Amino acid sequence: MEIKTYLNEQRQRVEKRLAELMLEPVGEFSSHIESMRYSLFVGGKRIRPVLCLAGAEAVDSSETVRENALPVACALECIHTYSLIHDDLPAMDNDDLRRGKPTNHTVFGEAAAILAGDGLLTYAFDLLSGPNSARIDDSIRIRIIQAIAHAAGPLGMVGGQSLDMIYEGAQVGYETLRSIHRSKTGALITASVLSGAMVAGATPDQETALAAYGKNVGLAFQIVDDLLDVEATTEELGKPAGSDVQSDKVTYPSLFGRETSRTMAREAVQEAITALDGFDAQADPLRALAQFIVDRKK
Ligand code: IPE
Ligand code: IPE
Ligand code: MG
Ligand code: MG
Ligand code: MG
Repeated sequence: MEIKTYLNEQRQRVEKRLAELMLEPVGEFSSHIESMRYSLFVGGKRIRPVLCLAGAEAVDSSETVRENALPVACALECIHTYSLIHDDLPAMDNDDLRRGKPTNHTVFGEAAAILAGDGLLTYAFDLLSGPNSARIDDSIRIRIIQAIAHAAGPLGMVGGQSLDMIYEGAQVGYETLRSIHRSKTGALITASVLSGAMVAGATPDQETALAAYGKNVGLAFQIVDDLLDVEATTEELGKPAGSDVQSDKVTYPSLFGRETSRTMAREAVQEAITALDGFDAQADPLRALAQFIVDRKK
């Protein structure tokens, strides 16, 4: 199947379930919920939830597993969207456009945007553990919650974001930059693939292979994000082009130039695909997604 068709189909499944699972903007917290919904439903590629669904499918493509992976996929999108809202805040990257629309804080104000992020992050764990969560053994559910919490937290995305801020305007070497990218972006992407695989009952060997896939695809994803920041336009991206230069970020293109960065992203994707050698055609969506991540234009 064409990757575009696959992506669209999976994206639609995610959109539909997200719409069903997200809180409605009614009652005393309606304005808070409205601000959460604004950023969640304003667009986005939905790569992390689709990686979760594809990770599940690589292990078991049954209808039950496909169904059970959906709430986990939606939780991952909530966490990702929260990270974007906070990433755009004046105290962080100070950007005014996201997903083709004004950023959360420019519409609702900074306090509401901080809280919209907090709301999405915590609601994700409600989705992972509450009555709408996947119908799976509690032992697996706890492993999934732990993997996602770890990836999103101080030793994963939040830790990476803190390094990203600390090193603004600083001289940073290759190892540090790679570590920032692996944590701020790679960790949640890896957890997306792995949590899907866990829903499907992956073996330890399968988990190891998929973790290697996620780590490489996650790194490639952020290298390409850095490249698009200098190569694409604001209109194409739906977020401000040149934001990294503006904020004096250390990025792959700033350290290695565009050509070498592109080669490094391609190499990481190749390694990701090689990590899937033990999987049959059920992992083809993961293989195609890896390719999509390096070829994408936004
Ligand atoms: C942007 O993520 C932030 C990074 C981690 C690079 P995406 O490029 O997946 O953003 P959306 O979800 O499509 O808006
Ligand atoms: C953000 O990286 C990574 C996150 C965890 C949100 P960037 O700051 O490069 O993401 P964009 O370019 O604003 O989407
Ligand atoms: Mg940032
Ligand atoms: Mg940013
Ligand atoms: Mg960026």
